[in-house]
Amino acid sequence: MILVTGASGQLGDALSRRLTARDTPFTAVQRPAFDFEKPETLTTSFEDARPTLVINAAAYTAVDKAETDQAAAKACNHTGPLALAKLCEAADIPFIHVSTDYVFDGDKGAPYLESDPTGPTGVYGATKRDGEEAILATSAKAIILRTAWVYSAHGKNFARTMINAGRKMPVLRVVADQHGTPTAAGDLADAILAIADKIEATGWQAAYRGIYHATGSGETTWHGFATAIFENAAKLGYPAPEVQPISTADWPTPTRRPSDSRLDCTKLKQVFGVSLPEWRATLPLIVSDLMDT
Ligand SMILES: NC(=O)c1ccc[n+]([C@@H]2O[C@H](COP(=O)([O-])OP(=O)(O)OC[C@H]3O[C@@H](n4cnc5c(N)ncnc54)[C@H](OP(=O)(O)O)[C@@H]3O)[C@@H](O)[C@H]2O)c1
Repeated sequence: MILVTGASGQLGDALSRRLTARDTPFTAVQRPAFDFEKPETLTTSFEDARPTLVINAAAYTAVDKAETDQAAAKACNHTGPLALAKLCEAADIPFIHVSTDYVFDGDKGAPYLESDPTGPTGVYGATKRDGEEAILATSAKAIILRTAWVYSAHGKNFARTMINAGRKMPVLRVVADQHGTPTAAGDLADAILAIADKIEATGWQAAYRGIYHATGSGETTWHGFATAIFENAAKLGYPAPEVQPISTADWPTPTRRPSDSRLDCTKLKQVFGVSLPEWRATLPLIVSDLMDT
């Protein structure tokens, strides 16, 4: 029995759809039944599900809002996941947790390795980093996947924002000096379930424990991502707006974003034989679904 948290989110939804399609027994929980800000709901959800594996897809993901909502961000990204890790540790089961490229400051100038020092630039990244460290200090069977630029046809994300904005405006200005890799929630869900399958097949191995980078393959900028979104939308008959490149300085936000948060995903391939598809390969499917919603 797999327990999936954050079922209403992009990743939680993708995991639930895949587990349903595979006919794998799972329990998917979300607020209010499972709420990191109400610790008793964690224990109840865990005891009700009696899981053999927990996948934590729940998080506080509002990057800018976290600057002024620090207690909630800490509860969802640090102390809540730590409590979940403790429950998994007591039950001696694996815990797959999801983290972010925003644990890095983006100044390395090359794809980050798992072993690179962290240096979050805001509260969101700091709480996610604290969550990683607390989980690793607690759980012998923890796998932490750092991902980035998650999008899907379900929920709020950059691709949906672009499609909606493009419906209203003939010209969009998009930041062209932040580098990273879009990650389709479904591709990340597939990677997580491939890891779960490997654990099931081999039994838990001590070498599995640790942090892994798990993004789509390839790289781009937000401007490159937006341009590709509209290229795909145009193929479906959607009038493409002009996408003008701007710099980060032209688009100030409460939290400074890393300018280059590309993640090196080699370790995931080496240990689990898992790699996510090229980001451009999955994009047409998601754009098509987004156009229908
Ligand atoms: N989105 C990205 O671009 C991105 C980038 C890098 C890493 N990540 C990481 O990837 C993982 C999945 O992200 P996502 O994009 O699927 O996030 P998402 O769509 O924002 O979903 C977040 C989920 O967490 C739930 N949640 C929020 N507050 C909660 C609380 N107090 N207690 C319990 N659940 C709560 C949400 O429930 P409600 O529906 O009730 O709010 C939702 O189900 C997260 O760990 C995130 O940090 C995401």
